[in-house]
Amino acid sequence: MQTSQAFTPPNRLLLGPGPSDAAPSVLTALSNPLLGHLDPAFIGMMEEIKSMLRQVFQTENEMTFPVSGTGSAGMEFCFVNLIEPGDDVVVCINGVFGMRMADLATRCGANVIKVEAPWGEIIRPEQVKEAVAGKSPKLIALVHAETSTGALTPAEEISKIAHDAGALMLLDTVTSLGGCEVDIDGWGIDAVYSGTQKCLSCPPGLAPVSLSPKALKIANNRETKVQSWYLDVNLLSGYWGTERVYHHTAPISMNYALHESLRLVLEEGLQTRWARHKANHEKLVAGLKKLGLGIASQEGHQLWQLNAVTVPEETDEAQVRKRLLEEYQIEVGAGLGPMKGKIWRVGLMGESSKTENVDRYLDAMTQILAH
Ligand SMILES: Cc1ncc(COP(=O)(O)O)c(C=O)c1O
Repeated sequence: MQTSQAFTPPNRLLLGPGPSDAAPSVLTALSNPLLGHLDPAFIGMMEEIKSMLRQVFQTENEMTFPVSGTGSAGMEFCFVNLIEPGDDVVVCINGVFGMRMADLATRCGANVIKVEAPWGEIIRPEQVKEAVAGKSPKLIALVHAETSTGALTPAEEISKIAHDAGALMLLDTVTSLGGCEVDIDGWGIDAVYSGTQKCLSCPPGLAPVSLSPKALKIANNRETKVQSWYLDVNLLSGYWGTERVYHHTAPISMNYALHESLRLVLEEGLQTRWARHKANHEKLVAGLKKLGLGIASQEGHQLWQLNAVTVPEETDEAQVRKRLLEEYQIEVGAGLGPMKGKIWRVGLMGESSKTENVDRYLDAMTQILAH
């Protein structure tokens, strides 16, 4: 029988759209001995995760915990729990992840009302106002930081429009959480999900979520059963709430890692962390300018943690990415959809957002573009 050698990954610098580099102490946490998922020590740690997540989301929502699964599981959790067949749902689409939300809402049987903006631009509140005029949608869904385009759509005004229309407000914070301001209670967000592998700098595998009491009440009083057994908040709350009954086996090591990454976020401080992301983005933009490169997403709404770097005319976008990876051990992402071939997606997320990483990327680009 043929056996493989133990796998040793190459030592890359992760400057793509995620995952980002994980802090050494997060990787160490992953290698701690396992505990049972109902062990009192593990349950104590779960309580700390919930409390730290509330601080990072800036919410007092009781129903705040990490869903087992990646960011898309968090997205699915929100839709399957809140939407029933026949509900009207407004979905804002300005990139890949808005499209994914519309797909999910459709799968839940919703009548989807799309509010669309060109890729790279933000969703304007007036567009949403116009879409809800004379209607009473159950929910308005928005991607805060669109990772496919590098645009940050402000959420607060759209959330007000949702509440004025009697709708719930759902926000995707997969790329924003930990990298720029996210204020769930301050902005009146009813349902939010995120992912661990972006600005929290934990490996992919958990999806922090939070539901407001209003959203939870809707999920608790549905006419139809939640379509997904695995993601049903009415069942999951039995494990993450006070009862502590078995639902599924929690991914123990991933929860250790999330605990450590949240601890690091709070140790650094939210404001300091956001300021670091901003400073490194500005340093990158200044360096790119010297190379004759710019940012493709809408001026004034560019993400600090995901930079849509313009590909110069007659440059082979894929070849540059390949050389960055093979010769400089740097991963960056390609453009998607209409931005394919036109941008590189350069992530400066969490642990990866460091001045030395910006310098390393700019030096590599200077050498590659010189040839
Ligand atoms: C904004 C946004 N939403 C949702 C997702 C889906 O998350 P995942 O790939 O972890 O399932 C991503 C992933 O990149 C994302 O960037």
